[in-house]
Amino acid sequence: MTVPMTFMNEELEQMKKAGLYGNIRTIESPQGAWVRIGGKQYLNLCSNNYLGLANDPRVCKKTKDMIDKYGVGPGAVRTIAGTMDIHLELEKKLAAFKGAEAAIVVQSGFCGNLTVMPTLTGEGDLIFSDSLNHASIIDACRLSRAKTIRYEHSDMASLRAKLKDNPTSGKKLIITDGVFSMDGDIAKLPEIVEIAEEFGAMVAVDDAHGEGVLGKGGRGIVDHFHLHGRVDVEIGTMSKAFGVMGGIVAGSATLVDYLRQKARPNLFSSALTVPDVAANMAAVEIMEESDELVKKLWSNGDYLKAEMKKRGFDTGHSETPITPVIIGDEAAAKDFSARLFEEGVFATAIVFPTVPKGTARVRAMVSAAHSKEDLDKGIEIFVSVGKKIGII
Ligand SMILES: Cc1ncc(COP(=O)(O)O)c(C=O)c1O
Repeated sequence: MTVPMTFMNEELEQMKKAGLYGNIRTIESPQGAWVRIGGKQYLNLCSNNYLGLANDPRVCKKTKDMIDKYGVGPGAVRTIAGTMDIHLELEKKLAAFKGAEAAIVVQSGFCGNLTVMPTLTGEGDLIFSDSLNHASIIDACRLSRAKTIRYEHSDMASLRAKLKDNPTSGKKLIITDGVFSMDGDIAKLPEIVEIAEEFGAMVAVDDAHGEGVLGKGGRGIVDHFHLHGRVDVEIGTMSKAFGVMGGIVAGSATLVDYLRQKARPNLFSSALTVPDVAANMAAVEIMEESDELVKKLWSNGDYLKAEMKKRGFDTGHSETPITPVIIGDEAAAKDFSARLFEEGVFATAIVFPTVPKGTARVRAMVSAAHSKEDLDKGIEIFVSVGKKIGII
């Protein structure tokens, strides 16, 4: 006899009543500037496929070729029999791309955080975490059993005060998102590094939204601020700008050696699949070859933000191509997103608890795959729906 699952039904009902039950759309086409949903084409303004590589023919070709050579599955965890020469080749390419001594790839960006915090810190240690850090950082901190102390978002006085007020004989680690994905602001990494050096703390940055976006040719936040050799750990994901899936941790050769031996996602979860590795390799090669896609992404982002602002929308204080259109009221943001969808624009509403109450928004995500005509179409629909429901 199974245990009654009434608590789930009850909670799901409560979520629906509170407007917190998510409507998960199904995409019936490759990812791109436009996607098919329910048989209809929609302008895609909500994917993290920053450079449009998720369906790039060069990426697909290399993946098919490598499947012919290696098959698809790694067969085991990295430490038993799952490490293939292509994993090591990808890691070498990534380290060179990021200007780091070494890199290790794991199954996802989420796993990247699970690879770092619980391995580098434990009971008796302290983690100083930005209050707006991503959920995977929060979970990784919890799993580490270190005491996590939150500092005010990007507030260096708050970080300094927390370090000062919490002396310890254990290890100290500061962790921050590189780009905060809900607002598009960039972490004050140079100041964080200086404070860390002063207090003898390690620094880790999760560059999920900075890889392929910030720095020379998309080399990330460390490159953007010229901080090579001064940031202990760079965590990243290949699910966004790389257009594929997989996590990266880059840093010193010792760090990577240590993680290979001790990090539980490396020890107890199977290696990245052959198609993932192949596609990621092709993505790095494309980014190494030219910064054309990164430039296109930025010019699209700048154009969209400027045009939205001109039309009266509040686009917050984004410093990156992420374009939040801040509405405030949660129900109004959801209604705006639903009406945009009716008019052919796929742009999701982001509400509490993902963002603070009263700052609900529709977040527009551009990519290098969008043409100016695509963006103009999107802006036109944002404006006409925005006027209809009285947002502008
Ligand atoms: C800062 C940050 N870290 C980690 C992740 C998770 O990455 P992945 O989707 O590769 O697991 C995300 C994705 O939303 C993110 O924004």
